[in-house]
Amino acid sequence: MFANSMAEQAQKECTNLCYFSTSSEALNHGFEREDSKLFTIHKKQSISYFSTLTTLILFFFNMTSNNTQVALITGCSSGIGKFLAISLSKRNFTVYATARNVTSLDALTKNYNNIKGLRLDVCDEESIKLAVDEIIKNEGKVDILINNAGMALTTPAAESDIVKVKKMFDTNVIGLMAVVNEVFPHMATKKSGKIVNIGSVAGFLSTPFLSQYSATKAAVQRYTDGLRIESKPFGVQVMLVTPGFVKSEIGEKQNSYVKSNGLYTPFKEKFFSQKPATGADSKVATPTDVFAEDLVAAIDQKVIAYSYRAGGMSLLAYIASFFPTWLQIRLLSSRDGFNKITV
Ligand SMILES: NC(=O)c1ccc[n+]([C@@H]2O[C@H](COP(=O)([O-])OP(=O)(O)OC[C@H]3O[C@@H](n4cnc5c(N)ncnc54)[C@H](OP(=O)(O)O)[C@@H]3O)[C@@H](O)[C@H]2O)c1
Repeated sequence: MFANSMAEQAQKECTNLCYFSTSSEALNHGFEREDSKLFTIHKKQSISYFSTLTTLILFFFNMTSNNTQVALITGCSSGIGKFLAISLSKRNFTVYATARNVTSLDALTKNYNNIKGLRLDVCDEESIKLAVDEIIKNEGKVDILINNAGMALTTPAAESDIVKVKKMFDTNVIGLMAVVNEVFPHMATKKSGKIVNIGSVAGFLSTPFLSQYSATKAAVQRYTDGLRIESKPFGVQVMLVTPGFVKSEIGEKQNSYVKSNGLYTPFKEKFFSQKPATGADSKVATPTDVFAEDLVAAIDQKVIAYSYRAGGMSLLAYIASFFPTWLQIRLLSSRDGFNKITV
């Protein structure tokens, strides 16, 4: 805007100096014939000087104005969020990596000049507002929002700790919506921006002891479908990402909850002893840097895809989601040993 007003100003000055549009007009205003010839020459020169000046001013302000793309990512203390920040920084984005505990971002902010750390807890609306205000104050825009923060809970569907389930819904679903609420108006006024919501293959296929987590990711999926349509008139693009197994700390951090002396206690040992806590710890999990590089390449396009699926077993899970329910039950029961336990 400033560059435009400078250009307008330069043009005005040019018009003032070349007020007489023809040499005869100049004569009418009391100039001698020779003067009027000179005037025509001077007029051409001044036009050329001022058009050069205008070009230089525009060039200068384009150089100094913020053309760098600005990204905001939630949940960057570890795993996918951390590596997405690194991948975006390598592509010269200005990255606002956020986390509940800002010191957990030290490794990112100290090693990459274009990664800035901010505190943002998706369950704390005030912290979301403060972080977004800070970015707008510094950069004037958010070009890409990646809603990555999330947690998992491994627990029986019918014997869970509701406080923990509520926390997971707050983090994975409500928190994501709260961040969109805060960022979307800034994108809408600029008629551009990209929102990338990290769901999961668990959003289209529910597995034993992960039904609540699957429910949060299915909610993210349906919410993203609606957001995508509503964002279009404002020029904002929306992508749903459904990772399969990707190496991260989600397994170490997750809450496993099976009641002692409960209905599912006999299942507990069998279930947890025979397989890694989550797909993120499994042998087929995709390395986090590989996943992040590929996803960032998909995001760093003029027009982004509506959805993106990658990571270990993601294709298989996607295909299995189209199987008839009886076949899904049979396959998943035997995979997790649920068909071998009787109570
Ligand atoms: N890894 C996989 O195989 C996989 C598969 C499908 C989907 N996903 C999804 O990918 C996303 C990233 O998970 P990840 O696998 O990279 O796990 P991760 O290493 O545990 O990372 C999760 C991130 O979310 C943050 N977080 C949790 N609660 C938060 C809150 N209230 N506010 C802000 N940040 C919060 C964590 O921060 P703290 O350090 O503060 O806890 C952490 O930085 C999640 O949405 C997850 O559901 C992962």
